[in-house]
Amino acid sequence: SDPFSLQDLRVAETSKGIYARIKVNILPCKEDTNITPLDFFFAGLAKPAAINNSVGFSATVADLNEIPGLNTLDISMNRVPNGGLVPSHTHPRATEIIFILDGELDVGFITTANKLISKTIKKGEVFVFPVGLLHFQQNNKDKPASAIVAFNSQLPGILSVAPALFSSSPAIDDAVLLTAFQIGTDEVGEIKSRIAPKN
Ligand code: GLV
Ligand code: MN
Repeated sequence: SDPFSLQDLRVAETSKGIYARIKVNILPCKEDTNITPLDFFFAGLAKPAAINNSVGFSATVADLNEIPGLNTLDISMNRVPNGGLVPSHTHPRATEIIFILDGELDVGFITTANKLISKTIKKGEVFVFPVGLLHFQQNNKDKPASAIVAFNSQLPGILSVAPALFSSSPAIDDAVLLTAFQIGTDEVGEIKSRIAPKN
């Protein structure tokens, strides 16, 4: 969850300037006279995004980068069309709640005690993934599923396990992966060749 604000409107100033280059934790705000309804609007979730990768996952993101008016408001959304798997990932800054618009998904998260909490959920149902915990959503049916997810952060962040480990830039030393997964160099190479840089 994000820091609380003391003002009504604190729309992020997204115009190019020094803040496009220098990262600050609290973003500068637009002057009130420059604020428009479009700062609080986003049409991008109207249609599901095309799925164009081998795991069948693609999310449309409605976070601070799309909606400057979300700045400091502690909330954002994604739409997840799902023909396959939303691969294991975490959001370092937010709890996630999912609402199934259509279809059925097997969803789950893993606790720090390595316990799997999972359930099949269908149209109209809701499930929660606590902040920071590894989670996934798998469509095991032959029809597409679609879901809206909401986060208690304007910018929840996403850290996807397979790309993080096998296609980071620069690459993690093979020795780290060999030991962690108890596999050989050939197997590491094989996995690296299959994991696209970001999915
Ligand atoms: C799904 O878990 C998502 O984070 O979009
Ligand atoms: Mn998620």
